[in-house]
Amino acid sequence: MSVTERVVAAGYEPLDSVWYGEEDADLLERLLAFYPRHEPKLILDATVNGGRFWRRSMRPIIGLDIDPHHRPMVCADNTAMPFASCSFDVVVYDPPHIPNQGRDRSKDFNTRFGLGSRASKEHGYTFSHTYPAFMQEAWRVLADEGILLCKIVDYIHNHRYQWAHVDLIKAGEAVGFIACDCIVKVRKGPIIDPKWKVAHHSRRQHCYWIIFRKSHRCE
Ligand SMILES: C[S@@+](CC[C@H](N)C(=O)[O-])C[C@H]1O[C@@H](n2cnc3c(N)ncnc32)[C@H](O)[C@@H]1O
Repeated sequence: MSVTERVVAAGYEPLDSVWYGEEDADLLERLLAFYPRHEPKLILDATVNGGRFWRRSMRPIIGLDIDPHHRPMVCADNTAMPFASCSFDVVVYDPPHIPNQGRDRSKDFNTRFGLGSRASKEHGYTFSHTYPAFMQEAWRVLADEGILLCKIVDYIHNHRYQWAHVDLIKAGEAVGFIACDCIVKVRKGPIIDPKWKVAHHSRRQHCYWIIFRKSHRCE
């Protein structure tokens, strides 16, 4: 048997870098089966919202959100979390995105995707300034060799491409994480702002899941 055949026989299932499946919950389950070096004992979702990531999941999760309307298990700010250091094996982060645009009153976008949060002019209408403080806390609450899984969407705003995933990676690396991998998740349809009839950027039809490790090695 070749090395590859032995690894496959031992239960290894490869993971493709592009995900066409519909639900983040399914992708997240694949990520949790693929990246951790041991079975996670406790997982923190630091932006849990309605908990859509954990539908059908039997994983041990603590859900945190700053907005009490979502009735999270822990209502707190993820830049100052009420947890002891090294408490979690995995932290999941899906920050608000697409600020001040894409409002569609016929859908519940604002509550579901955090679109209700408005990005201010002083921060260039982006949420990137929130990443460093979160990364610092994620580093603190993660155990050594822990994993941080981030869903992040680049977007067009203020007539500019906003490189959210680049800002996120820089913020993670600044506190010591290594960005080890990246999955592109393809959307069925792009998010379209009905305000702009003619757009001069390509339509965003994907987001990223970035895999960080609190470790010195990726493998
Ligand atoms: C994009 S939504 C998360 C959606 C969630 N992953 C889901 O699929 O159901 C972002 C969430 O982050 C929360 N949030 C924003 N800033 C936060 C902060 N500083 N601390 C904790 N939660 C925050 C918002 O209230 C919102 O529920």
